[in-house]
Amino acid sequence: MKNKTIKRAKILAFGSSFPEQILTNADMEKIVDTSDQWIRERSGIQERRKLRDGENNSDIAAAASLSALKKAGKKPEDIDLIISCSNSPDKWLPAMACIIQNKIGAHNNCGAFDLLAACAGWVVGLSVAEQFIKAGTHKTILVIGSEAMTRFLNWKDRSTCVLFGDGAGACIVTPAEENEKSEILSIHIHSDGRYADILDMPGTGSAMPATPDVLEKNYHFFHMNGQEVFKHAVRNMASCAEEALTKNNVKIDDIDWFIPHQANIRIIEATARKLNFPMEKVALNVHKYGNTSAATIPTAFDEYIETGKIKRGDLILLTTVGGGLTWASALIRW
Ligand code: ACO
Repeated sequence: MKNKTIKRAKILAFGSSFPEQILTNADMEKIVDTSDQWIRERSGIQERRKLRDGENNSDIAAAASLSALKKAGKKPEDIDLIISCSNSPDKWLPAMACIIQNKIGAHNNCGAFDLLAACAGWVVGLSVAEQFIKAGTHKTILVIGSEAMTRFLNWKDRSTCVLFGDGAGACIVTPAEENEKSEILSIHIHSDGRYADILDMPGTGSAMPATPDVLEKNYHFFHMNGQEVFKHAVRNMASCAEEALTKNNVKIDDIDWFIPHQANIRIIEATARKLNFPMEKVALNVHKYGNTSAATIPTAFDEYIETGKIKRGDLILLTTVGGGLTWASALIRW
C-alpha cells in the first residue's frame, strides 16, 4: 500500500541577486523629464538596478538560485523541479527555467518550466511547488522570481521607466518534517482577465509579431494605466491578505512580518492601512530596487532573514498583485 498521507511543504532557504549597476533618481533626471522629489513622493523609489549589456535575466536568476541552494545545504543535482517565474525571460523559447538549469549545473534531467503570472508570479510558482510537495512526487523544488524589467521599458516614457528595476530572488521548497513548525500554511491565487490591458506589453507576441510598425509604435514596451493599477492593487492585495487570515483563523496581531509586493510605497501604505497593519512590521525594499515584479517578495524575504529581522518560527503574510490581473497571498510559518 502506498502512503497516502498528504505532506506539508516548507521553504528551506532563500537567495537573491541584483545587477551591480545602480540608477539613482538623479540618473533618471538625466534620462527623462522627472525629479527625485516626484519619484520619491509618488513611488518611494530612490534607486533601482539595471543589467548591463551582455548580462541577462538568467544570470541573476542563476546566481540567486545558487545562493538559495548553498543556504539550503543542497547541490544543483538535488533539485527535482525548477519553476522560473518572470515577465521578462531571456527569450520566449526555450523556457528560461531550462537556461537557468544549465547555468546552475543541474544536469540531472529534472523538470523545468516557466510560469507567467506577472508580478504575482513567484507566489503563484510557490503554490505550484507546494502542490507537487503535498502530492509527494517531488522533494526539492527551486522556485525563482527574476526580472530584467529594464529591457522592456520605454526610456522616453517617464510615467513607467522610473518605476521598475532588475533583480532575482529564489527559494528551495521541500517537505516539512513531522512535528516541524516551518510550513507553507496556505496560498490563495486569483485572476481577472477583464483587466488584461491595464498593464501589458501589447506587441511581439503571436497576436502582434515584431514588425517595424510594432516597434515604431513602442508596442514592444510595458504599457500601464497607473491609476487603474493602483486602485486594483490596493483592493486585491488587501482582500487576499484577509482571505489568508480567515482561512488560518489568524489575526493581524499574530503576524510578525507582512511582505507585500513592492510596486510602490503608496500602494503598500494604503494596503497596510486597509488591513490595519502597522508599517513597522512591513518589509520594504522598493526604495532600493524599485518594482522588480516577480522578484520583489523573495528578495525582500531573503533580506529580512539575512539581516536577522525575520526569525525562525515567525508568521509571515505575503500578498501580491500583477498584470493579468493576477493576485495572490500566502501565509508562511518560517
Ligand atoms: N516625473 C514627473 N512627472 C511625471 C512622471 C515622472 N516620472 N510621470 C508622470 N508624471 C506627470 C504626468 O505627466 C502628469 O502630469 P500632468 O498633470 O501635467 O498631465 C502628472 O505627473 C500626474 O500624473 P498621474 O499619472 O496622474 O500621476 P499619479 O499621481 O497617478 O502617479 C503613478 C502616477 C506613480 C504611476 C501612480 O498612478 C501609481 O503609483 N500607480 C501604480 C502603478 C504601479 O506602481 N505600477 C507598478 C506595476 S503594476 C504592479 O506591480 C502591480
